Amino acid sequence: MKAKKLIEVALPIKEISAESVRDKSIRHGHISTLHLWWARRPLPVCRAIVFASLVPDPLDDNCPEAFKYAVEMLLNTELGKLHYKPYKDIPYTSIVDEMEDNHRNRLMMFIGKFSEKCQENMKACKSTPPKEQLDEGSLIKWENKNNPKILRIARELIFVAYQSDKRPDATWEELHAEFDKLYDAIPKAETALYELKDRHIETDKVKQLETELQTAIEAFQNEMPSVFDPFAGGGAIPLEAARLGCRSYGNDINPVAHIIERGSAEFPQKYGKPIVYSKEEFEKLYGEEGIKMAQEDERGITFDGKAYHIPNRLAFDVEFYAKKILAETEKEVGYLYPADEKGNKPVAYYWARTAKCSNPSCGAEVPLLKQFYLANTKKKKVYLNPLINGTDIQFEIKKGSCEHLMGWNKRGNITCPCCGSVTSVDKVKEQSLNHRLNERLIAVIYDSDHGKEYKLPNSDQIEDSKKYYDIKYLPKEEMARNSGGGDTHPWGYTKWCDLFTNRQLHVINVLIEKLQALTKQLPQEEYSKTVKTYLSMWIDKALCFFTSFCTWHVTRETMNNIFARQAIPMIFDFVEANTISGTTGSLSNMLDWITLYLKSESIIEFPSFFANASSGEMNQFGPKELAAAVTDPPYYDAIAYADISDFFYVWLRNILNKEYPITFATPKTPKTEECTALKHYHNDNEQDARKHFESKLTEIFSAIEFQTSDIVSIMYAHQSTEAWSTLCNSILGARMNITGSWPMDTEMMGALKTDKAFLESSVTVSCRPSERKGFADFDEVKHDIRQLVKAEVEKLYGLGFRGADLITACFGQAVSVFGHFKLVETAEGDPVSVGQLLEFARVSANQSQVDNVPGEPQSKFYYGWLQMNGMKESSFDDVNKYTRVGVNVEIRQLRQDRLLITDGNMQHLATAEEHLGNNTTWGTQPSDYMISQVHRMMMAYRMGNQVQLLKLVRDLCPQSDAPQWRVLDFLGGHLPEGKDLNDVKGILASAEMLRQKCKETAVPTEGALDF
Ligand SMILES: C[S@@+](CC[C@H](N)C(=O)[O-])C[C@H]1O[C@@H](n2cnc3c(N)ncnc32)[C@H](O)[C@@H]1O
Ligand SMILES: [Zn+2]
Repeated sequence: MKAKKLIEVALPIKEISAESVRDKSIRHGHISTLHLWWARRPLPVCRAIVFASLVPDPLDDNCPEAFKYAVEMLLNTELGKLHYKPYKDIPYTSIVDEMEDNHRNRLMMFIGKFSEKCQENMKACKSTPPKEQLDEGSLIKWENKNNPKILRIARELIFVAYQSDKRPDATWEELHAEFDKLYDAIPKAETALYELKDRHIETDKVKQLETELQTAIEAFQNEMPSVFDPFAGGGAIPLEAARLGCRSYGNDINPVAHIIERGSAEFPQKYGKPIVYSKEEFEKLYGEEGIKMAQEDERGITFDGKAYHIPNRLAFDVEFYAKKILAETEKEVGYLYPADEKGNKPVAYYWARTAKCSNPSCGAEVPLLKQFYLANTKKKKVYLNPLINGTDIQFEIKKGSCEHLMGWNKRGNITCPCCGSVTSVDKVKEQSLNHRLNERLIAVIYDSDHGKEYKLPNSDQIEDSKKYYDIKYLPKEEMARNSGGGDTHPWGYTKWCDLFTNRQLHVINVLIEKLQALTKQLPQEEYSKTVKTYLSMWIDKALCFFTSFCTWHVTRETMNNIFARQAIPMIFDFVEANTISGTTGSLSNMLDWITLYLKSESIIEFPSFFANASSGEMNQFGPKELAAAVTDPPYYDAIAYADISDFFYVWLRNILNKEYPITFATPKTPKTEECTALKHYHNDNEQDARKHFESKLTEIFSAIEFQTSDIVSIMYAHQSTEAWSTLCNSILGARMNITGSWPMDTEMMGALKTDKAFLESSVTVSCRPSERKGFADFDEVKHDIRQLVKAEVEKLYGLGFRGADLITACFGQAVSVFGHFKLVETAEGDPVSVGQLLEFARVSANQSQVDNVPGEPQSKFYYGWLQMNGMKESSFDDVNKYTRVGVNVEIRQLRQDRLLITDGNMQHLATAEEHLGNNTTWGTQPSDYMISQVHRMMMAYRMGNQVQLLKLVRDLCPQSDAPQWRVLDFLGGHLPEGKDLNDVKGILASAEMLRQKCKETAVPTEGALDF
C-alpha cells in the first residue's frame, strides 16, 4: 500500500484562499497581464494543489521513512524553526485549538502560514493588508515565486517523495546527496553558457555549452515527477508545476490558448536569460537606439567598456523591436490623430452611434446616448449639454451635475430630443441591419497635469475621423452568437471586422505590415519566432482597447476593454483610444505589461511542454507515465472559449500562420471538439449539449486515468447540481473516485458572500483510480452521506464558507461515498443516478445548515420555512404540512407571535418590520426568540439607531461565536433581495467593527459608528 498524498488528508485552505484572493489584484509581472484568457486560476491555488498532489502525508503509516526525514531536516532547519512551526492555536477558528507540531502540520505551514502579525490581528478582529497576511516562508506567497531557498526546499521534498516511492530502501542521506548533485549542476551550466560572449552566434563552443545545460536540466527532470494539465488555458497550472521543478505538460485545444501558454510557461523560461554582447556585435545589431536603451537604468544593462551585459535577452529584444514597429507606425499614421491648437495629442475619442428619428417630419440623426456624463467622479463632474436647433443636435461641454438630463436611449428605444417622438428598438435595429448605425465623433479626451480633459472635436479631427481607407486585411469571419449574454447580431454586427472603425482597421493593418517587414529581416530561427510571437501578442493586447465596442468608465475616467464581460454586448457609445499615444490601453502601455511579465517569469529554469490538441489521446503518454494530473476543465457552459477567442484568432492567424502552420490551419478556432456544454452547437438542445460535455470529459479523464500513477486533482467553480453531476459522472465513468474535496476562495469578494449568482470559491477534488465494488442500498448510503455532509457543513462554516459555496463544497464528499459501489439502488430496485445523489447531498447540506442555526422551535420554523419557500405567499395547507413534519410548533402561536402573516387562505413569513410591528421590547433580551433578537438588530440598523444597535450587540452577541451572528449569516444566504437582506448585509459588513466598539466603550454613545 502506498501512502495517501497530502491533498487527500489536509490542506491549509484558509491560507491558500487568502493569498488567492490577493492574487486577483496583483498586476506587475503577473501571468494574467501577459494576455487575456478567461477563467484563470490564481497561482497560489495552482502551486498548492500541484505540491500537495505530489507529496505523501507524513503521518500516513505507509509514508516512506526518507520523506519523513526530509520534512524533519528541511522544515526544521533554523529557517524552518522560525517559519514552519505550527500555530499555537488555529487562528481562524473561534475555538482555541492547539495545533500539534507534527510533520503533516509542518508541511501545511510550508505551503502557507499566516504571519505573526496577521494572527495577532485575527484575534483582535482587525484586518491585515493582503501583502502581509502570509508569513514570508510560505511557498504560495507571491513574493516567493522566484525565491531560491524556498523553491529548493519544495523541489527537494518533491524529489524525495517521488524517489522514495520508486525506491523505498533509499535513505534520506542518499537521496539528499543525489538531489544536490543533480540540482547544482544546472546553475553551473547556466553560468557557463550565459557568460559566454556573443552566444547568439552559433559556434561549436556555444553548441557545446547549450547541450551541457540541456543535459543538466534533463538529468534533473528525469528524476522528478511529470505533471499534466489537459485543459491548460492560460497556462497557470503548468507554470506552477515547472516552478516546482516537475516535468510539466499542458494541452489546450484552442490555438490562442496555445500561444498564450507558450508565451507564459515555455519561452520566458527558455529564452528570457542573460546575454553578453561584445561592443561591436551589440552596436551592429541594435545601433543608436539600442545604445540609448542600454544606457537607461531601468533595464539593468551594464557596459564594461568592451561588452554589454543584458540581464534578459528576450525582454530586451521584444521591447527593442516593438518600439521600432511603433515608431514606424507612428510615422505613417500619426497624422490621423491631430493635436489641438496647443499641440496636445488626444489620448482617446468619444463616439456615439446615431439613428434616424422615425417621425417623417423630423428625421433627426440622434446620438444614442443613455446619459451625458463624460466624467462623474466624487470630485469631478463634466457633461455634454445638448444644444438643439430644429433637427440639428450639437453639444457643449459643461462642468457640474447633469442629473436633470434624461438619456435619449433606453434599451435601444430612442426619444428624439428634437420632436419628442419615440423610435422603437425594432425600428432602430431595422436601420442598423440595413446599413449599420452611423458613428459620430462627440468629444476628444486629453491627458493633462490635472487629469483628463474633455473638448469638442475641432474640424480637422472630425475630418480625419471620417476619412475612408482601403483595408488590405479585413477579418470577415462570422462571429458566433454570444452564448454568455449580450449579442451584437440583431444589430447587424456579425463579422469580427464589424467591431472596428475603418480608421482602427487601417491602423491595425499598418502595424501588422510593419511587424511583418521587420521580423522578416531577423534570422529565421526558433528564437526569432519567439520574439515575433510576443510582438503579435502585444498587438492582440492593444486590440482589446482598440475597438468600437470599448466603453468609457465615467466614474473612473478610464477605458473598459472589450472583454469587460466574457461576451460582447451591443454598445451605443464607445471610446477609440489613440493607440499610438502612451495612455492606458495604448501600444506602449501594453508593451510595459509584456516586458514586466518576461522579467518576472524568466528566472525559472524549466520550460513546460505544450500541445495544441484536444485532450483524451490515450497514446500521448505511456501507462502511468505521469505522477499527477492537475487541471481546471471548462465549467459546463459558463464560457464559450472557442467563440470569443476568435476575436484574437482572426488577427493572430494572419500574422503567425507561417510560424505556426498547424496551429493556424483553420479559418476559425476549432469548435466541435471543445469540451463545453454549449446549446448552440447542438441545435439548441440542452440534453445533447450536456451529453457532449459529459462524454468528452469522460474520454479525457479516462485517458488520464490510464496515464497517471497517483493523483488527479480537478478544480471546478460551477454551483449548479447539473454541472456537478456531469463532472462527477465523468470522474466515476473514468474508473476513478474522489478521495479529497477542498473549497477555496479564489475570487475577489466584498466583506460578505451572499451573492447567490456565482461561486466565490472553487472546489478542488482529488481523485484516484478505483474499483467500484458491489451493490448498495440508497437508504444506507443516504445515512452515511447525511453524517458526512453534516460534519463537512460544520467544518466549512467554521472556516468561513457560506451559502451556495458551502453547499457545493459538500458534493465531493457525497460522491466519494457513492463511488465505492458499482450500483446504488432504491428500495424499489431502481438505480440511483449521480444527479439524484447530489440533490440528496444538497438537501442534507441545507438541512444541516438549518439544524445548525441556533434557536428555539419558533425561530427554527422561520429558518426552515425561509429556506424552503423564501418570503413567498403560501397556502394554508403547506404551512400545516411543514409544521407537522418539520418543527414542533402550533400555527396559532406562530400567527400570534407575528412570525407568519395571514391573508385569507394564504400566508407568508414576516419581514423584520412585520414581525416587530410597534412592539418596542421584543428581541431586546437574551431570553426572547432568537429571530426576534436578530430582527431587532436589523431594525436598529435600518433606522440608523447606532446607540441601540451597539447596545444590542453588547447585550446579546459581543463575541464572534455568539449564535446571533450565525443566524445573520444564514439569513444573508437565504433572504431574497430587499430591505431585510440589505440590513443583514450591512450588519455583517460592520460586524467586526461593532464587536470591537463594544469592547472599547462600555456605554454606547451617539456617533460611535459610521456605516
Ligand atoms: C477553465 S479553462 C483553463 C484555465 C486555466 N486553468 C488557467 O488558469 O488559465 C479550460 C480550458 O479548456 C480548454 N478546452 C476545452 N475543451 C478542450 C479539449 N477538448 N481539449 C483540450 N482543451 C480543451 C479551453 O480552451 C480552456 O482554455
Ligand atoms: Zn424627431
